[in-house]
Amino acid sequence: MEDLETLRAELMSAVEAASDPAALEEVRVSALGKKGRVTALMKALGGMDPEQRKAFGQEMNRVKAAVAEAIDQRRAALEAAALDARLERERIDVTLPVRPESTGSIHPISQTWDEVVAIFAQMGFAIAEGPDIEDDFHNFTALNFPPDHPAREMHDTFFLPERADGTRHVLRTHTSPVQIRTLLGQKPPVRVLAPGRTYRSDSDMTHTPMFHQFEGLVIDQSTHMGHLKGCLQEFVEAYFEVDNVPMRFRPSFFPFTEPSAEVDIGCSRKGGELRIGAGDDWLEILGCGMVHPNVLRACGLDPAEYQGFAFGMGLERIAMLKYGIPDLRTFFESDLRWLRHYGFGALDVPTLHGGLGR
Ligand code: PHE
Repeated sequence: MEDLETLRAELMSAVEAASDPAALEEVRVSALGKKGRVTALMKALGGMDPEQRKAFGQEMNRVKAAVAEAIDQRRAALEAAALDARLERERIDVTLPVRPESTGSIHPISQTWDEVVAIFAQMGFAIAEGPDIEDDFHNFTALNFPPDHPAREMHDTFFLPERADGTRHVLRTHTSPVQIRTLLGQKPPVRVLAPGRTYRSDSDMTHTPMFHQFEGLVIDQSTHMGHLKGCLQEFVEAYFEVDNVPMRFRPSFFPFTEPSAEVDIGCSRKGGELRIGAGDDWLEILGCGMVHPNVLRACGLDPAEYQGFAFGMGLERIAMLKYGIPDLRTFFESDLRWLRHYGFGALDVPTLHGGLGR
């Protein structure tokens, strides 16, 4: 009985001394485990006479229960302390300001694209598309380019390697092939705007090998040059957000329009600052004309029945004019500082009623 009391005292102080769950588990195994000290004494009960066994057994059970309970309590205390320590360690200060996050911006090309689409959509134009890689027929032949036209030379056009049948595809040099694709695919009346990438073998301050154009095409039985002028006047005033912009048509030449014109708008360059709509200077912004009878014929339309206009304009050019971007090449350099300066808010979607530019 005395030994039992000593054992109890020893185990209890071992439990108290266990400073973490692993140490406590060791104590439990050494006391109550299969080869533990309490278990060993229980086994010894078998060799005692009945009187002794009864008294000793009762006392044994009391010791065993007391030790087991002490272990449970100690375990709960250790777990609570561990949780407290962790809560202390992982404390979050919810009053700290949020970390700065960099917001993206819309590239001026995308912005200008959306603005122009918004304006022509309002005038009832549908969007048309064509591939960047074109065949000779759509890029040149159907557009009435003569076989010896300089645009068919290497120095202007990117040609793809010759194919088995001897023909060579090109990176489209303008969006005008979409005129052909549209007229071959649908019967007039046609009123489409074709925005897209175009390519020319050219690179300096004012030319990049890839750039963007907008093609406009209107074909029906009565559309004439007056409509062309009115449409462009409307566009220029909406796009530059200026009323009564002076506009003039200068005679020009394109194989696929007759007559052809280049369009200038009035501006002033006083004090080195470009202002659209005022002053006595002129600025060229696009090419246009009445669709050539040969183009209509190439698309299976009778020029005696159908007529209409087409125009093509450089997207980068009108973006530079509106947003004061001096160098064309910067559009494609992917310089984040440039983008932050010239970029647009991602949620400011341009509309005619909500405002186009910034
Ligand atoms: N495709 C011409 C160019 O790239 C522009 C244009 C389009 C002119 C439509 C007239 C009509 O220069």
